[in-house]
Amino acid sequence: MEKATVREIGEIVKGKRVFLRADMNVPFEKDKRGCTIIADDKRIVASMETLRYLLDKGARVILCTHIGRPQSKADKHLSTKTIVSRIQKLLPDRKVFHVSDCVGKKVDEAVAALKDSEVLLIENIRFYKEETSNDLDFAKKLSALADYYVNDAFGAAHRAHASTEGITRFIPAVSGFLMEKEMKILGEAIGNPRKPLLVIIGGKKVDTKIGVFTGLLDIAETILVGGGMTYTFVKANGGSIGNSILDIPSIDFCKEVQVTAKKKGVNIVLPQDSVCADRLANDAHIQIFPSDQIPEGWEGFDIGPKTIEEFKKHIAKAGTVIWVGPVGVSEVEAFATGTKEIAKAVVDSGAVSIIGGGDSASAITRMGMQDMYTHISTGGGASLEFLEGKKLPGVEALLGMGVQIK
Ligand code: 3PG
Repeated sequence: MEKATVREIGEIVKGKRVFLRADMNVPFEKDKRGCTIIADDKRIVASMETLRYLLDKGARVILCTHIGRPQSKADKHLSTKTIVSRIQKLLPDRKVFHVSDCVGKKVDEAVAALKDSEVLLIENIRFYKEETSNDLDFAKKLSALADYYVNDAFGAAHRAHASTEGITRFIPAVSGFLMEKEMKILGEAIGNPRKPLLVIIGGKKVDTKIGVFTGLLDIAETILVGGGMTYTFVKANGGSIGNSILDIPSIDFCKEVQVTAKKKGVNIVLPQDSVCADRLANDAHIQIFPSDQIPEGWEGFDIGPKTIEEFKKHIAKAGTVIWVGPVGVSEVEAFATGTKEIAKAVVDSGAVSIIGGGDSASAITRMGMQDMYTHISTGGGASLEFLEGKKLPGVEALLGMGVQIK
């Protein structure tokens, strides 16, 4: 990444205020007593390297994140208060404070009271509509809280918001370590992959992955298609899909992409058989059918055993695997076999293994295999947009490498 990083300001931040934009947008669940708890703290943990670095260098850190998509401040369950104790737990030797606003008198006072190597977590930045509209007055107010800006929020880098883009117009802006790592690994995977490059594209609907198909068609040797999107491809090719999910507006794209792939010498492999059921439940009636001969009343929820074997053969030959989207409804045990088998095959192949997109990352984490992969991106939409070849506004806005920062 040709962008300046937090290392560039490491030696000048002692006693200075640093606005650190992280993506600590974590999922929540209820515990047995009905209390809201963090379901997966991966994004908080991944943000710690930059936060610790700044604190070790004596910076006064104003920490900012969004959580969810609140409509207003009234969405109290999305307050950053819900994550402050987890951050404090991860930083036992540092003081972590919380302020229940993002700008204004209360925040100014809390920032003024902040000492070297202390953290002030401000309120969910999306409690202000000015965040998502990238209101420059709001961005300027945010910038006034600090001397430097660090963006470590790879997961939000595809958003041109006040705290990811607008603020960079007012104070020196550099990337954090997580942002740097994501850009480096994903960048190498598409810019200079160990060949052959195999891409697994799954998930429910084709329309969410059209850009990924288009972006990767020029660099991949093989694309394995799985998940609910299989059936739109099968329908486009004239097969019978029973009651399986169909993304009608994408049928033409499915036809075109196969023609283009053929011209470019890319092998698109569709599942030959599917695990089908009469409903999406563990106790449903389950039967295997050829993916293009699914009778009415049956719906495909996972790739079948023949497909698993075929996919495994392709995966075994890969130098790099980029995987976006589960190949079945992996959160329902009866339809998780395909995703589990493919997940193991990717690890066994010894290929460079990259997981993009939120659903596949969750599936790998649920299986406890997260440490066996080269890289599981912390970005859902951001990783998809990057793989599509799009520029991410949150990255573009940062200072270039080699710029003198005072
Ligand atoms: C994500 O969960 O992918 C990021 O935190 C971005 O969230 P958003 O899609 O609500 O902008």
